[in-house]
Amino acid sequence: MPKLGVNIDHIATLRQARREFEPDPVLAAAICEEAGCDSIVAHLREDRRHINDSDIKRLRKSIKTRFNLEMSVNREIIAIACRIQPDQATLVPERREEITTEGGLDVIKNFDKVRDAVSKLQKSGIEVSLFIPADKKQIGAAKKTGAKIIEIHTGCYANAKTKKATEAELKKIKYACKYAQGLGITVNAGHGLKYDNTKEVAAIPGMYELNIGHSIISRAVFVGLPKAVKDMLKIIN
Ligand code: PXP
Repeated sequence: MPKLGVNIDHIATLRQARREFEPDPVLAAAICEEAGCDSIVAHLREDRRHINDSDIKRLRKSIKTRFNLEMSVNREIIAIACRIQPDQATLVPERREEITTEGGLDVIKNFDKVRDAVSKLQKSGIEVSLFIPADKKQIGAAKKTGAKIIEIHTGCYANAKTKKATEAELKKIKYACKYAQGLGITVNAGHGLKYDNTKEVAAIPGMYELNIGHSIISRAVFVGLPKAVKDMLKIIN
């Protein structure tokens, strides 16, 4: 059964709507852990639009499972990660004008930058994952950076409009997963996974962890965070 990482960025987004102190993402992380998730994911964006520097310091102190810090390859952010020491860093592309992480990293195009970031973070004792599309060439490049983990971007699967297109995207993810595992890479997946499309991804052989944010936090508004996390764990099970 794959593990579940809960992305708590949207708790901080709600807090930032008033720039006050609640809801607190650190409390949200503790509730998600209590409900049974396996790791907490938070994205320290360069523009600090939701999670901020104080949050990641407090998260590092309070998280009892694993802390997966999403981040760009920006030098300043890498230095912060090395200081904070999350258990894992997931490198993602970042554009200021985007609403959320829109695509996977182009490891081929940005090879030197990504390889250097992987090396710095690993030297500081942090495991590194690369958020990439389900593409054989990108997986090959990811392997060459020295990263031991990838997270396959499931956005195309989640956004596919027809049954046929959804099945085709799922097939790509399955193939990418098998190919990466054959290279000795641990495979995670995430983005756009919801209560009605996660089961199929969770069933992919050897899938290690699913990272899910928006759908869990959205459901939590109506049913509470513990139940929203437990409902997703049931589906993954
Ligand atoms: N994984 C990565 C690398 C992401 O950037 C995001 C979005 O922050 C997620 C998973 C979670 O995506 P969603 O919020 O659509 O579940």
